[in-house]
Amino acid sequence: MLVAKNINEFRKGYETVRPGMKVGLVPTMGALHQGHISLVKKAVDKCDFVIVSVFVNPTQFNNPEDLRTYPRTLEADCELLGSAGADLVFAPQVEDIYPEKDERVFDFEGLDKYGEGPRRPGHFNGVAQVVTRLFDIAKPDYAFFGEKDFQQLAIIRNFTRKLGNKIEIVPCEICRGEDGLALSSRNMLLNAAQRAAAPHIFATLDSETKKLAEDNFNMSVDEFLKRITDGINSNPELECEYAEAVDSDDLHRIASWDESEHIRLWCAVYAGKVRLIDNIKVR
Ligand code: PAF
Repeated sequence: MLVAKNINEFRKGYETVRPGMKVGLVPTMGALHQGHISLVKKAVDKCDFVIVSVFVNPTQFNNPEDLRTYPRTLEADCELLGSAGADLVFAPQVEDIYPEKDERVFDFEGLDKYGEGPRRPGHFNGVAQVVTRLFDIAKPDYAFFGEKDFQQLAIIRNFTRKLGNKIEIVPCEICRGEDGLALSSRNMLLNAAQRAAAPHIFATLDSETKKLAEDNFNMSVDEFLKRITDGINSNPELECEYAEAVDSDDLHRIASWDESEHIRLWCAVYAGKVRLIDNIKVR
């Protein structure tokens, strides 16, 4: 496995790609965990050459403190990636990705209207900037993204299709710890009490969603969301920032169950200063 720390090293490493080979790209911001590794393994199964990018993209951080404290663990990442079967790690410098200031503004056709969109202004635009740059550089046939970032996945699909790229976006299920906590690089920022509390997020989503189905969707959306928020907040270490029920395809926030057949529940929760997101299929 080759580790390219700038674009010239990347181009050298890419020379091993022969015509006809299927190239897979797994974009990451590093601090890798088994969730990322499951994406890499899926890529290894499907592709002949697997590139994993490790780049903490400054343009997608709306909070400078979050960017500063984002965990950076390249050496450990490379060890995991070597065992998972990646061929090339691309850990570029900011100037490799943005030789000049990226002024592009993307239109996500309303997919960013709810959820993370209004809470993290500019975040998805930054994601689109970096992902399109990585697509241009790595020219993948397939790109792999996790469903934990459900809204990000829909937005990436949307701009990839509109840019006319032939890249197939491959969704990958959320990986959870045995206690149900969605794996996330941010989990390593939790202190012991917060880490012990964090599984309560998914436990609440899961149990309330099951109750809703057993109850044949008889409670209102508002009542259901209040149960989720109250349930999460019943743990003193956690504070729910938002919980929303959205249509799984166009991501509009629903006010009644008959508005959509396919519904996702998503939320963001603070454990101290650490912001965690999660989601679950409602139906
Ligand atoms: O999901 C992430 O880790 C990032 O948003 C991504 C897709 C690697 C872009 O920086």
